[in-house]
Amino acid sequence: MVEFHRVSLLYPKTQTLALEEINLSIKKGEFVYLTGHSGAGKSSFLGLIIKSIVPSSGQVYIAGESLAKYKGGRVAYHRRRIGMVFQNHSLLDHLSVYQNLEFALRITEAPQKDWAERITNILRTVGLAHKHQVYPIQLSQGERQRVAIARAVITNPVLLLADEPTGNLDPDVSWEIMELLSEINLKGTTIILATHSREIVEQQRRRTITLRKGKLVRDDLNGGYAL
Ligand SMILES: Nc1ncnc2c1ncn2[C@@H]1O[C@H](COP(=O)(O)OP(=O)(O)OP(=O)(O)O)[C@@H](O)[C@H]1O
Ligand SMILES: [Mg+2]
Repeated sequence: MVEFHRVSLLYPKTQTLALEEINLSIKKGEFVYLTGHSGAGKSSFLGLIIKSIVPSSGQVYIAGESLAKYKGGRVAYHRRRIGMVFQNHSLLDHLSVYQNLEFALRITEAPQKDWAERITNILRTVGLAHKHQVYPIQLSQGERQRVAIARAVITNPVLLLADEPTGNLDPDVSWEIMELLSEINLKGTTIILATHSREIVEQQRRRTITLRKGKLVRDDLNGGYAL
């Protein structure tokens, strides 16, 4: 599903070597933790997958195809097949929960007659069916994050990238979010979750990839926290 072949990333302005000679492969259906201290290169790693940044050297492959070949509309199409969840949720505040999800469906080819049913189903999955008319500002942080996850997966992405989705949440709510992501993974979506959280990585053991100052220092199928 995702392959990095000798990928390095140098941010030219600051001359920061954010990633150095990364080689790895993530298979379809995996749920992988991407961990490491602040500044280790986690967000940069995810940015390379959606091609919001390009490597200075090496190649990123998705489903066997090099992203270097993707240009213009092909990049946009590629991004539409990937769901993304960020720490700061980035919902559209002037739209209700329902409208935020509608907005996500608008860029897909899903027929409009199916939208209502899809939105109702996904809101049920994230436990927010009763809040469809509410605006993001009227939701708790955990609820907003659940809407952000709903928005990321309503398009049936093959791959879900989550960058610190539990960043500001208290442990109970983080745990709910993790359960939700596990359910989504069980339905077949490949997930890469960037996190600093020792609790998350320890509580539910999964393959854990650790970056340190841009280098891949650990790739452990049994997981557990170690930096
Ligand atoms: N746009 C940018 N321009 C220049 N340097 C950058 C840029 N973005 C990130 N960096 C640098 O690249 C390195 C990796 O940053 P990155 O954001 O990938 O780390 P991270 O592991 O996601 O950190 P955090 O846990 O704090 O989110 C850091 O040294 C950072 O300062
Ligand atoms: Mg980051």
